[in-house]
Amino acid sequence: MNYKILAIETSFDDTSVAVLQGRRVLSNVVYSSTDLHKKWGGVVPDISRRAHMENIKGVYNEALSRSRLDIKDIEYIAVTYGPGLAIDLEVGLNFAKDLVKKYNKKFVPVNHMEGHLLSPFILNSKGKGLIEDIDEEVFPAIGVLVSGNHTELIFVKDFCEYEKLGETLDDAAGEAFDKVGRMLDLGFPGGPVVSEFAKKGKRGNIEFSVPMKHSGDLNFSYSGLKTACLYKIRELREEGKSDNDWVYDFCRGFVDAVSKSIIFKLDKALQEREVKSVFAGGGVLVNEYISRSIGRKAKEFDKKYYLPPIKYRTDNAAMIGVAGYFNILNGNFGDLQIDREPRLEL
Ligand code: KG4
Ligand code: ZN
Repeated sequence: MNYKILAIETSFDDTSVAVLQGRRVLSNVVYSSTDLHKKWGGVVPDISRRAHMENIKGVYNEALSRSRLDIKDIEYIAVTYGPGLAIDLEVGLNFAKDLVKKYNKKFVPVNHMEGHLLSPFILNSKGKGLIEDIDEEVFPAIGVLVSGNHTELIFVKDFCEYEKLGETLDDAAGEAFDKVGRMLDLGFPGGPVVSEFAKKGKRGNIEFSVPMKHSGDLNFSYSGLKTACLYKIRELREEGKSDNDWVYDFCRGFVDAVSKSIIFKLDKALQEREVKSVFAGGGVLVNEYISRSIGRKAKEFDKKYYLPPIKYRTDNAAMIGVAGYFNILNGNFGDLQIDREPRLEL
């Protein structure tokens, strides 16, 4: 089961290729085109597509050379086929299919969100990681996925057996971070800056109500919070205050509201479902306040908590390789007819 897998990820603004042996990551190269989108205030699909086209060969060569394997050694090509931006997904998918045909490899299409979900299974090249013993009883689990385009709670019965418990009805949490960052003129992507500013803010000075607290289900929504932020910024600016006087407290209030919304729904899910652990993944969880809050909630319910290292929380091909690995074990591979699916669900 030491399959040699080359994994490719191009669903958004990161071009990434990883080489794995089983769950062990031999190399993981990420080229981000984020800087190219800065002046547009968000990811422009055409620009990221061009960046993927220009960089994928180089990222691929670098990943292979760092892994010290040759393409001849690789048995499986795993690739993200959705969800994501259609014209970006296409670049990775076509590159993968070309490799499969040219070198006669086996083809493993992977759901990007399954990559985030299973990212805690990643091991380093020496076999060290969060879950080293595959017989460790981790399932059933609740998966908490918080990324730029998704906010979801997943019931994981077992590998490849998922049930969506809740999701965002409008914006994802990451999107809200980025939009609030833009409203505050903090540039793109706003998420990391808003998180840094929040650390300097004082809790309670500026507060927002927790979205969807009384919805009775496990869904999320961030458009109301976003609008509340917009009005609050206007109000503060109209009062003639300089942004510097309140921006840290503002970010603190925003992060608290997002965090509470996630914790509140996770609590409900943990009451409703009997699970052994909580899995977390996605770029927003780089915010340690949010990821630790999730950990505390898991502990309160006496559940194990699996949160991958920071470099595997944001988009990367290593997580696609690990998800690919479990798909191979489950026999989910081989269909070269598969096309990109921008709205693919888990
Ligand atoms: O998982 P990811 O890399 O890509 C998607 O699949 O969407 O997540 C990207 C999102 C962006 O919205 C970005 O602003 C957010 O993750 N993000 C953060 C932080 N770092 C990245 N949000 C809050 N705090 C951070 N430190
Ligand atoms: Zn992602």
